[in-house]
Amino acid sequence: MSKVIAIVNEKGGVGKTTTAINMAYLLGKQNKKVLLIDFDGQANSTMIMGDKNPNEIEITISTLINKIIMKENLPPKEDYIIKNKDIDLIPSNSNLFTLERNLCNINFREYILQSFIDEIKKDYDYIIID
Ligand SMILES: Nc1ncnc2c1ncn2[C@@H]1O[C@H](COP(=O)(O)OP(=O)(O)OP(=O)(O)O)[C@@H](O)[C@H]1O
Ligand SMILES: [Mg+2]
Repeated sequence: MSKVIAIVNEKGGVGKTTTAINMAYLLGKQNKKVLLIDFDGQANSTMIMGDKNPNEIEITISTLINKIIMKENLPPKEDYIIKNKDIDLIPSNSNLFTLERNLCNINFREYILQSFIDEIKKDYDYIIID
């Protein structure tokens, strides 16, 4: 059974990204299969995981969410999951800020990320969302 853990706080700068990355790292070191989802347009997790130019990444979490909203097929996982030694990453970039503004018009928006995670969670022991 995979566990999904979201690190959420309305206040900014309180250690969410630090917590998410360290939790993912330590679980990965214990040989758990870990997916970290960067769900912040600032893309701090994406950059810490090694991508210095998130805005040049072709497929990010916002691409995937957009496709779900438009009822389009998702690309193959190997096209959007960035594999690292102990942690898989779904990256983010500033497109997520645009998506957040547009999401307010979408019905059942609270469930879109959940429906995406339901599709991939069988591959992981832990899914951590920053
Ligand atoms: N336990 C800690 N002790 C001291 N400093 C910390 C600790 N955790 C995080 N920090 C520092 O606090 C700052 C903010 O941390 P972080 O980026 O993890 O917060 P955040 O909640 O993800 O911020 P944002 O809301 O901008 O996404 C960083 O400079 C980080 O190094
Ligand atoms: Mg953060």
